[in-house]
Amino acid sequence: MASSSSVDPSLPRLEPLFDPFDSQAESVALQQIIQLLGLQNHPEGGYFVETDRDALRIPSPFALTRTDPTADILVDTRSAMTTIHYLLTPKSSLGHFHRNKGRTVHTLHKGRGRYVIIHADEAASSSCPGGYGGSQSLTEEQRWVGKARVETFIVGQNVLAGERLQWIVDGGKYKASFLLPDVEGGQTCEEGLLISETVVPGFEFSDHDFMREERLKALVTEPQAQEMAWMVRK
Ligand code: GUN
Repeated sequence: MASSSSVDPSLPRLEPLFDPFDSQAESVALQQIIQLLGLQNHPEGGYFVETDRDALRIPSPFALTRTDPTADILVDTRSAMTTIHYLLTPKSSLGHFHRNKGRTVHTLHKGRGRYVIIHADEAASSSCPGGYGGSQSLTEEQRWVGKARVETFIVGQNVLAGERLQWIVDGGKYKASFLLPDVEGGQTCEEGLLISETVVPGFEFSDHDFMREERLKALVTEPQAQEMAWMVRK
């Protein structure tokens, strides 16, 4: 029997379900989708294209981290909003752990995937390992386990099975995502997981960083860090 997850004991261990080396190329349908939408490789994994960037510039709400001594805080601005298409495929099936400063609204177009969120922005609670946090908004899939709260959920069209059509990730939280088969228990994925991500204020790479293995180990328990190590960009 598959061993259970240390992130959520009701789940099997979190592991990649697609091997990028098991076939030569993306399917013809996926190649067409990539071409027609104009998608590029994303450094997080998967493919993306920015489909809109608001021309309106607003003052950045984020603390200025720039080391340039000539930088003037008054001119640190962001686009009011940006939005992208984002695609995971069997050949590029993992979006590695990273965080943004902006709040991101995710909207499903097609396919299924699993999201894993590490709530690094919340106070860690080692006082109640394995128990629930105090927040009223916690769902069954959310746990305080040891250090930071780790949340995982499935995005997909099967609302009756609890899959989500829309999900919001606040700035400061680490996020990873990976492709799931089109149907629960299946093996195949015809057209990948295609979503839109809208970031407010708009995305800048200076507001983005990847999770490092040391940070993962510091944030979660040792078994969780081992289970999720494959989601960290090396
Ligand atoms: N929104 C979320 N991720 C990204 C990204 O990598 N680039 C752009 N432009 N917008 C994003």
